[in-house]
Amino acid sequence: MHLTDRFRKLIPPALKQRVKPLLRQEWVLPKGLEDPKRFVGTDGVSGQLQLELLKREGCTRDSTVLEIGCGNLHAGILLIQYLEKSRYVGVDPNKWLRRKTLKNLWASELIREKQARFLSVDNFDASKLGTRFDFVLSHSVLSHCAHWQLEQYLRNAGKVLAPGGHILASICLAEGNAYGSSGTPDKEDSMDETWQYPGISWFKLATVISTAGRCGLTVVHKPEYTEFYVKTRPLECHDWLVFSWMR
Ligand SMILES: C[S@@+](CC[C@H](N)C(=O)[O-])C[C@H]1O[C@@H](n2cnc3c(N)ncnc32)[C@H](O)[C@@H]1O
Repeated sequence: MHLTDRFRKLIPPALKQRVKPLLRQEWVLPKGLEDPKRFVGTDGVSGQLQLELLKREGCTRDSTVLEIGCGNLHAGILLIQYLEKSRYVGVDPNKWLRRKTLKNLWASELIREKQARFLSVDNFDASKLGTRFDFVLSHSVLSHCAHWQLEQYLRNAGKVLAPGGHILASICLAEGNAYGSSGTPDKEDSMDETWQYPGISWFKLATVISTAGRCGLTVVHKPEYTEFYVKTRPLECHDWLVFSWMR
């Protein structure tokens, strides 16, 4: 028997009934899930903002969502709560980041009930699941990836994108932005050969557009999403891009 099942049996049914609705409220992350937030540098509030942006892109409860770089599930838990069964997949090579969340009694029950799935791959490729996704979400992933990983990301995220689907990803544009990002000194790509963490990698918008084009994707830059995000999280002044299939 799974350890969490044993614990669940120890909780009196009357207490379970009283606590469940409180924990199920949207936007609530139970205490203890905030660690190892120092590694990812985000929290449940960042997760709420990411979910809100996905909704602005048209995500509804019956959408299918792939989160690439799901970390310790700051957005993931809220998405799993929001979405219907079997609609969420999280990808992250650093399984240890989500381990504590997965061990949490409430979260593990939610994940099991909602049949959320996880993959520990580092090539952004979730195609082995055979699922097509209406949305792919990545916050603070392209902003750290090597130059060559941008194309790998777009190819593999594109491969699993449903017709009419969108990839919503944050990135750090070399040009900088009006919300606190300086960009690179010369406004050129940083051309990093490896994953930069906690450092930042930078891409010119023109580089992103041409890379996306090679992958059959179009790009829309959304400065209004940065404006929205920094109102609550002034230091998370990433640029936001939406990729879709070329018609
Ligand atoms: C700054 S954290 C952001 C986590 C999460 N998206 C959030 O907003 O809380 C960057 C995440 O990217 C993950 N990551 C690193 N390399 C990756 C790869 N090749 N594919 C997918 N995720 C990766 C890290 O493990 C980490 O969880």
